[in-house]
Amino acid sequence: MSCVVDLRNLWWAYESSGEWVLRNVSLCVKEKEFLLITGPAGAGKTTLARIMCGLIPRSYRGVLKGRVSILGKEVTNTRSPQVLSDVGFVSSDPEMQFLTMSVEDEITLRLRLSGVSSEEAGERVSWAIKQVGLSESILDKSPYELSSGQKQRVAIATAIATKPKLLVLDEPLSNLDWAGAEEVVKSIELLRLNQQTTIVVIEHRIDVFMQYLSRIALMLEGTLALVDDPLNFFMKLPKEFESYVRVPEIVRIWKYLVLRYSLRNENLSDESLKTHITKLFRGLW
Ligand SMILES: Nc1ncnc2c1ncn2[C@@H]1O[C@H](COP(=O)(O)OP(=O)(O)OP(=O)(O)O)[C@@H](O)[C@H]1O
Ligand SMILES: [Mg+2]
Repeated sequence: MSCVVDLRNLWWAYESSGEWVLRNVSLCVKEKEFLLITGPAGAGKTTLARIMCGLIPRSYRGVLKGRVSILGKEVTNTRSPQVLSDVGFVSSDPEMQFLTMSVEDEITLRLRLSGVSSEEAGERVSWAIKQVGLSESILDKSPYELSSGQKQRVAIATAIATKPKLLVLDEPLSNLDWAGAEEVVKSIELLRLNQQTTIVVIEHRIDVFMQYLSRIALMLEGTLALVDDPLNFFMKLPKEFESYVRVPEIVRIWKYLVLRYSLRNENLSDESLKTHITKLFRGLW
C-alpha cells in the first residue's frame, strides 16, 4: 500500500452550513509517517481528522467531492457509522468518546469491538495504561470523574490498545502539562516504531513533537497551505503565515543562526546546533 491516507482533490461541506469547509485537499500519508497538522481555529483540522477516521461522510451529513482512501479502502463506499477498523481516533473532547462507567470497561469494550479475545484484552488494558503513564489503580474509576489530563490519557490508551495501523489524534495535549505531554508523545512515537503505526496528530504545540515528525502541514481556510518536512516547513513558512503557527523556540534560534552565519543548506541536527550555538555564545561573551 503506497498511501495509508490518500486524499485526492477533496471538497467537503456540512449540510447545515453549506459552505466548503475542505477545499481541494490532496494528501498522501505514507506508512509509519508522523504527520502534524496545525493551523488557526476554524481552518478545518477537526473536519480533516473526521475524514481520516471515516466519521465523514458516514456520521455527518454533507456534500463530498473527490476521493478518500484510508488503508487502501475507499471510505465513501463503506457503510458502518463508526470509526474505521484499524484506525484509532482520539477526539479533542475525550469525554464525548466515553461509553462505560469504568476505565477498564472503556478500554476492554474498544478491544472487544475490534475483535480482541477476552483473555488477550486483560493484557492489552495493562499495556495501554502503562504506555500513557497511568497506574492500574485508575482502572476501577469512572472516566467521568478523572482530571482532564487523566481523561485525555485514558482516551489515548483506549485508542492505542487496539494497536491500530493508523492513529489520528485531535489536540491530544490540550489538557496535559509539559511533563505529561512529553510522556504521551513518547508513547505515541513508541507505538509508531514498534507497531509500524502511521500517526496523524492535530496540534498547536509543535515543539514537543518536533524531534519525531516526518512532516508538518499548515491548514488555512480549508486548504493545505504548506506541507513539508520540519526543516523545510519552517524555512519556507512565509512571514504572513507565522502568526498561525506556534514556531518552536529552537526553530527561532536556528533561523537566527542561519542568518547570522549564512548556513543555508545545513541540517538541524543536534551536533550542528551545538556547534553554532557555542560559536554564538562565544561571540556574545
Ligand atoms: N458538525 C458540524 N456541522 C456544521 N459545521 C461544522 C461542524 N463541525 C465543524 N463545522 C464548521 O466547519 C468549519 C471548520 O471547523 P473545524 O472544527 O474542522 O475547524 P478546526 O480547524 O478544527 O478548528 P479548532 O482549531 O477551533 O478546533 C467551521 O466553520 C465550523 O463551524
Ligand atoms: Mg478542531
